[in-house]
Amino acid sequence: MNLRESWWIGPVEVPTRVVLAPMAGVSVQAFRRQGRRFGAGLVCSEMVSCAGIEHRNERTLGYLRVAADEHPLAIQIFGSEPRAMAEAARIVEAAGADIVDMNFGCPVKKVTKTGAGAHLLEDPDLACRITEAVASAVSVPVTVKLRRGVEDGSRACLELGPRLVEAGAAALTLHPRSARQMYTGYADHSLTAELVELVDVPVIASGDVVSRARAEAVLDATGAAAVMVARGAQGNPWLLREILDGEPVVPSREEVVAELVVFVRETVRELGERRARGFLKKFYGWYLGHGRFPKPFKQELVQLESTEEVVTRLLAATPGAAELVARLEAELPDPADEVLLDRLPISIYGGG
Ligand SMILES: Cc1cc2nc3c(=O)[nH]c(=O)nc-3n(C[C@H](O)[C@H](O)[C@H](O)COP(=O)(O)O)c2cc1C
Repeated sequence: MNLRESWWIGPVEVPTRVVLAPMAGVSVQAFRRQGRRFGAGLVCSEMVSCAGIEHRNERTLGYLRVAADEHPLAIQIFGSEPRAMAEAARIVEAAGADIVDMNFGCPVKKVTKTGAGAHLLEDPDLACRITEAVASAVSVPVTVKLRRGVEDGSRACLELGPRLVEAGAAALTLHPRSARQMYTGYADHSLTAELVELVDVPVIASGDVVSRARAEAVLDATGAAAVMVARGAQGNPWLLREILDGEPVVPSREEVVAELVVFVRETVRELGERRARGFLKKFYGWYLGHGRFPKPFKQELVQLESTEEVVTRLLAATPGAAELVARLEAELPDPADEVLLDRLPISIYGGG
């Protein structure tokens, strides 16, 4: 099975059949760019609040920064109001997204109680009105990411999916767990197979794809256009390459440290030192786990005061990594090529 072949979402060519998932608190620019470098055919932003965009919330607008080497990129928005979602989609398109994705699956109460995320699985009329409004507001393709339904055993996605396509969705991603399940149990990809039969747009299968064997089994059993990888790629971009090529990839310690150092530096550039310091802590365990480094080393990093100290400690522990870091950084595009917020038809200082 060749996963390094391209497929299409409307007019957008996706060069491989592995998609890097949207993950709140994870899918920063550094994560997405790294995912592309390791072969993901499409990367996604974390879910971005359409209310935050509407109110020109500075932090929210920060999620819309797009780097030159991310494309194709989907930016995911969530909300419950068709007009506000359409307006947010316009801004997302202006920010440089190739695809506007909508979140109709988030199970978190803070989101569902506003009528957004997984709540929309139970309000198909509103879900369709949002999809129609967003699809007619932008010229890029609009896609939707769903769960199977709210309650365990629900098959709501099979009724809603075809209606969303009729309303203008150019592709669907299905994570076939219920919202109740959160992340427990298993993703039931027999539903993905059923959805593929029902719609004439590409379906992306999300859930429990953690190896090449799993990816092949899911693609085989469902007929999906691609698999999406989420938790498996946390601190482990090598999994993307392994899934694509079918060969086990075991990175050297130098490679692990080099990727982590570049990730730390880029994230500091994106979020600033103060936010990045806390944000990055979970990544230390993710990268250094998998039997790559002893546990106390991770604990030591988490306790350091600044990310600069973390980088120094990492390079001291693995001197051979410095050369790899230099090579990786030389290949990064010039930050000046980024689409800057001040070139968008919005102001981060309010107003319009
Ligand atoms: C930490 C975390 C954050 C997530 N955030 C989002 C999100 O912002 N939008 C979304 O559509 N799905 C989100 N998801 C769901 C994943 O995209 C994916 O569908 C799910 O984790 C199943 O895939 P996996 O088994 O490969 O992890 C998140 C999952 C995790 C673990």
